[in-house]
Amino acid sequence: MTPIYLDNAATTQIREEVADKMALILKSTYGNPSSTHSIGRVSKSTLEQCRRRIASHFNAKASEIIFTSGGTEADNLVLRSAVCDLGVKHIISSKIEHHAVSHTIEALANSSKVRVSYVKVLKDGSVCMQHLEELLSQSAEKTLVTLMHINNEIGTILDVEYVANLCKKHNALFHSDTVQSVGHYPLDLSKIPIDFLAASAHKFHGPKGIGFAFVRSGFGLQPIITGGAQERGCRAGTESIHDIVGMDASLEIAYKNIVSEKNFILSLKTYFIDRLKQEIPGIEFNGCSDDFSKSTYTLVNVCLPVAQEKAPLFLFQLDLKGIACSKGSACQSGSTTGSHVLNEVLSEENLKKPSIRFSFSCFNTTKEIDTVVHTLKALVLESA
Ligand SMILES: Cc1ncc(COP(=O)(O)O)c(C=O)c1O
Repeated sequence: MTPIYLDNAATTQIREEVADKMALILKSTYGNPSSTHSIGRVSKSTLEQCRRRIASHFNAKASEIIFTSGGTEADNLVLRSAVCDLGVKHIISSKIEHHAVSHTIEALANSSKVRVSYVKVLKDGSVCMQHLEELLSQSAEKTLVTLMHINNEIGTILDVEYVANLCKKHNALFHSDTVQSVGHYPLDLSKIPIDFLAASAHKFHGPKGIGFAFVRSGFGLQPIITGGAQERGCRAGTESIHDIVGMDASLEIAYKNIVSEKNFILSLKTYFIDRLKQEIPGIEFNGCSDDFSKSTYTLVNVCLPVAQEKAPLFLFQLDLKGIACSKGSACQSGSTTGSHVLNEVLSEENLKKPSIRFSFSCFNTTKEIDTVVHTLKALVLESA
């Protein structure tokens, strides 16, 4: 049985050419980029080339890219330093952020003098812009807004340009967790006044354990990991050259192929939704994940018409049949509480039914979609 991988919002399969390039670098470019001898300088030059190329995809400056161990660290760096070093006293966020953001701001609120306000989330999973503007206009303290670009569970897209301009109007800083959008959506940071963003290579067919923060010039963020003076003093620790090369290579391919891969993945999502509607009457789409204008092309989150007592075994049964997908978000698998995102957007009744996130990549096929629809339909019928 060949497994069917529909959990690409949790992580993606590394591209073969990226893994090959990394293996070469791992063997050849072993110098410490902080060393002044020629072997170290080769690593330093490779590192800085990657930084320049990564920055160029966003029309940003190389000096605005800080390499981190991934999205979680990039979010932590920005949020913690904004409070500790930039004097932020008020954070505006939402209840549907990834835990990398929500748990960090909760910890900051418990340990420092920052207060947190939550903007209303509508039933379609979008942020209420009117409420955001109210919160901003009532905020007298130094304020930072942190709202994710693409929700990792229900796929809702935030209009980051609108929010960034709103923040400018109200003199607030804006951080966006763009972990689910970098490599999938273009972001021109010379036009969109976002101050900070977070990205992670394993979400765009790169290696795990590497990512970056974009920090717009002029903000003196201080490190949360202290030690050496790497990353212009913003993040200590010897840089992982092969991972950074892998991230650069995977981002390069992602943006080179963005139109063709987006069209292909969108056609898979459209086909999946059409077939699900035909084959499973009563199926519902969480948030607005079946609305192509409001939700990312990369995922769909469904609520199945299955009795409450049959719900817990659903994912397990799909796994037994070789289908990898996710309940809510993979970062919380093993947790006994339900998804904090679905808790915000679903009715009491639908929270009792199984909800499953299917997330796609360019490596999926229509045949796989057919198999998943067939299997889901059989499981729903068995559970009726
Ligand atoms: C929206 C979002 N933010 C942050 C993260 C964390 O990124 P990383 O796994 O690189 O730490 C994830 C990963 O699931 C994510 O989906």
